[in-house]
Amino acid sequence: MLRLGFIGAGTAGTALSVKLSQRGYLVVAVASRTFDSAQRLAGKVPGCQAYEMPQQVAEAAELVFITTPDDAIAGVVAKLRWGAGKTVVHCSGVASLDILEPARQAGAQVGGFHPLQTFASAQQAIQNLPGSAFGIEAEGEVLDRLAEMAQALDGDWVQLQEGDKVLYHAAAVFACNYWITLIRVATELWGHFGADSAKAVKALVPLLRGTLLNVESVGLPNCLSGPIARGDLGTIEKHMAALKKDAPEFLTLYRELGLHTIPVALGKGRVDDAGVEAMSKMLTTGA
Ligand SMILES: NC(=O)c1ccc[n+]([C@@H]2O[C@H](COP(=O)([O-])OP(=O)(O)OC[C@H]3O[C@@H](n4cnc5c(N)ncnc54)[C@H](OP(=O)(O)O)[C@@H]3O)[C@@H](O)[C@H]2O)c1
Repeated sequence: MLRLGFIGAGTAGTALSVKLSQRGYLVVAVASRTFDSAQRLAGKVPGCQAYEMPQQVAEAAELVFITTPDDAIAGVVAKLRWGAGKTVVHCSGVASLDILEPARQAGAQVGGFHPLQTFASAQQAIQNLPGSAFGIEAEGEVLDRLAEMAQALDGDWVQLQEGDKVLYHAAAVFACNYWITLIRVATELWGHFGADSAKAVKALVPLLRGTLLNVESVGLPNCLSGPIARGDLGTIEKHMAALKKDAPEFLTLYRELGLHTIPVALGKGRVDDAGVEAMSKMLTTGA
């Protein structure tokens, strides 16, 4: 059976090693910047040995995941001795395979295996990982192996080419990080009528959950509701007037997002061309 190793015993390394082990993979070795972290990970994975030196992982395992922070990957890979029969895989969403070039030059196969998921802590990552999608940059045998791993983790996967990675990652930033930014904007607006951030978040979570369920069940564009889906010009006008008066720092954002929401409303088919034109004009000019 293929022997897996991990260099970097943080959030992603812990989640991948624990879940792959639980799904029948053989995880034999881990090293990290500190031995404590390596031991902590090894303690969660039966049969996995913690090593002091990353080179020991490169020797003990056939497929080595480099799960250090992105900026450390190239340096870690360049320092180690690799050879034929080894596969080196990083988990960055934005870096391509060029950072693994020293391993490839030494005869190893290389790949990228990015869990399209948000991991706030190792424990939460272990829970969230199954069912996540994976962005895989690899060819041939490595692609087959990594696709099998994604499936073993109940995940869908997409094959990415070198030029795809940065936009793929920017998409994740929109869908995950900037969603949080929008929640923060909403909580700031709640502050205008005296509700603190905790109360606002508590009230908004069921709305967020409902939105997500609609995205999942009916998909784009039919999951869209609200004034732009209805072509409700009066409401949009009122929103903009109130923002201009009480929270002008969010007016440009509101208008930009509104303009990008119009194509979704058009796709849903509840607004006609005249309604689209009127909303576009109102959101573009801000009046
Ligand atoms: N977190 C996410 O949401 C997420 C999602 C998808 C993909 N990823 C990717 O997963 C990779 C790891 O991210 P992460 O969030 O798991 O980072 P992390 O929690 O900060 O963990 C990184 C680990 O790497 C170790 N490390 C740092 N420098 C090292 C070096 N020079 N040599 C050996 N080990 C080193 C650290 O060691 P010590 O603990 O020993 O100090 C730490 O345990 C990144 O490529 C990231 O892009 C992360």
